[in-house]
Amino acid sequence: MLLLPLLLALAAFKPAERPVAGPDIPADIQALLDKHGCAACHAMNRKLVGPAWPDIAAKKYSAKRIAQLVAKPEPSNWPGYVPMAAQKVPKADMNKIADWLTKLK
Ligand code: HEC
Repeated sequence: MLLLPLLLALAAFKPAERPVAGPDIPADIQALLDKHGCAACHAMNRKLVGPAWPDIAAKKYSAKRIAQLVAKPEPSNWPGYVPMAAQKVPKADMNKIADWLTKLK
């Protein structure tokens, strides 16, 4: 009867699934990232298909430039990544996402 506690202990050690969205993304922004599919490839805390949000923010783009790069990606900015396909995001939503990124540290 030593086996059951052992199995339970092992089950408890199953690594928790890491959230794709970091805790630091405001709910309204997260909703936009989900709605437009960005969250599938970008996360707060790690590289997915695309660079982590803080890594993009570290490039210190203006909001206007971010909107440009999303509409017309320049993969040469990110060697080692697959190229991002151009994303169609309505202007109002894109402005909110871009504005958030410029303020991200
Ligand atoms: C299928 C995966 C995928 C999706 C979906 C995606 N991205 Fe990306 N993104 C990437 C990859 C890969 C890169 C780096 C290579 C590149 O820029 O082409 C990137 C780069 C970026 C960059 C940096 C551009 C630069 O030139 O520095 C921004 C900003 C960005 N993505 C924003 C977004 C936003 C906003 C959305 C949602 C509307 C989005 N991405 C959706 C994969 C994705």
